[in-house]
Amino acid sequence: MGITFLLNGETVQLQEVAATQTLLDWLRETQQMTGTKEGCNEGDCGACSVMITDDKGARAQNACILFMPQLNGKAVRTVEGISAPDGALHPVQSAMVEHHGSQCGFCTPGFVVSLATAHVNGTTTHDETLAGNLCRCTGYAPIIRAAEASQSAPIPPHMIETPPAPTATHSGANWVQPTSSDDLAQWYLKNPDATLVGGATDIGLWVTKHLKTPEKIAFLGQVKDLQVGEESPSHLHFGAGVTITDFATAIRPHFAHFARMLARYGSTQVRNAATIGGNIANGSPIGDGPPALIALGASLHLRRGDEIRNIPLEDFFIDYGKQDRQEGEFVIGISIPKQPDTLRCYKLSKRFDQDISAVLGCFNIIQDGTTITDARIAFGGMAGTPKRASSVEAALIGQPWTRATIDTAMKAFAQDYTPMSDARASAAYRLETAQNMLLRAFLEGSGQAVDLHEVTA
Ligand SMILES: Cc1cc2nc3c(=O)[nH]c(=O)nc-3n(C[C@H](O)[C@H](O)[C@H](O)COP(=O)(O)OP(=O)(O)OC[C@H]3O[C@@H](n4cnc5c(N)ncnc54)[C@H](O)[C@@H]3O)c2cc1C
Ligand code: FES
Ligand code: FES
Repeated sequence: MGITFLLNGETVQLQEVAATQTLLDWLRETQQMTGTKEGCNEGDCGACSVMITDDKGARAQNACILFMPQLNGKAVRTVEGISAPDGALHPVQSAMVEHHGSQCGFCTPGFVVSLATAHVNGTTTHDETLAGNLCRCTGYAPIIRAAEASQSAPIPPHMIETPPAPTATHSGANWVQPTSSDDLAQWYLKNPDATLVGGATDIGLWVTKHLKTPEKIAFLGQVKDLQVGEESPSHLHFGAGVTITDFATAIRPHFAHFARMLARYGSTQVRNAATIGGNIANGSPIGDGPPALIALGASLHLRRGDEIRNIPLEDFFIDYGKQDRQEGEFVIGISIPKQPDTLRCYKLSKRFDQDISAVLGCFNIIQDGTTITDARIAFGGMAGTPKRASSVEAALIGQPWTRATIDTAMKAFAQDYTPMSDARASAAYRLETAQNMLLRAFLEGSGQAVDLHEVTA
């Protein structure tokens, strides 16, 4: 029973943990380790950032949406463990002092942990590292200066961690942690009412914001065979448990625009936790993965007991809140056909970073220079599900690659979508935006437009 993890280099073994106790609450309320701050308690502000090391390396994550059982077999380093055991400041800490990177200081522990984790990994894209850390007093310039000043300092030895072996039996009063998809399949068949937890970037909020406590949980974090990405001659295959960070890295050589769009998915901390399986299974109409995957013609693999089904991903999304998933069935992965990289993805949200899409348009338009030979177009934020623009596609295929064709196809959006108005955008704005995204795809695809991704990234 229980879990084993390292906390700032010391082994911690807990016999019994509540399935939905967050690391943040445990640190602050049980250990009185109050350096890790609570800001939003929903993964948005980064004040609770901690460094988690597992067999894939060190990653920053948000402790407020990380449940204790997810730590089994991992090394946790909090802001209290960033300075050396002899008390010497970490180079990032010294640079924050020197460059005046802190005023009220509430955000500072999170910034220090995010920067120290990037330092371990040799990451120097500081804007991207810090997109999930909010500061309202200092402003970012001094913090970025501190990041730049410390980036080439040697890594303090205590920051390089070896995670411990997990506690073997992996269970608690109302939770289990299967270690293979075979075990998961058998257990879930007998417990179809259970909640499966991937990265908990949705479920964490059910608990912290909606005050819901799932009665029975299977944590998927130890199901290693679901965390594999593989390449065959014809396809890229990804297990459901691959994180968005690892997924984006793996697809970058194949689908560069898709990978760049994913750099705007949540924040570094969110992408380090969220899984591609969770992003699909939650059925959200505004998830960033599905529209791009549908435009690429991806298929989805589902398993119930010993039965495996493969379906086109677009068929999984039946209606708002309704997916083609049976009781006891779970997502095991996706396969993307290899193809020339013609996919373009445009994410529209109120902020550039760390925001959910209002509209996400993904265009896979094949043309031979004069004629459009094929088109797969899918949108998020335009319907109750991620959905293809079939009428727009029909208005394009076989037509000349000209502005007149695009103008005609833009009108077809009204046949494909009746978007809703909500806090993110009005229906009329959504429709006009979708049309303009097609125009942008045309202008960029014919070398007539500035690539805004390059300008703003
Ligand atoms: C601050 C913040 C920012 C975010 N920004 C974005 C964004 O920009 N774009 C975006 O798309 N999303 C965003 N999200 C939403 C969230 O990251 C995604 O929906 C995420 O991919 C969910 O994956 P997860 O592994 O964390 O899922 P979990 O929270 O673990 O689970 C989500 C749902 O999927 C189910 N599930 C998980 N794995 C499986 C499986 N293998 N089989 C069957 N069911 C499964 C769970 O039971 C649950 O119903 C954000 C979330 C936060 C907190
Ligand atoms: S408290 Fe804001 S991200 Fe955790
Ligand atoms: S120093 Fe006050 S929020 Fe950053």
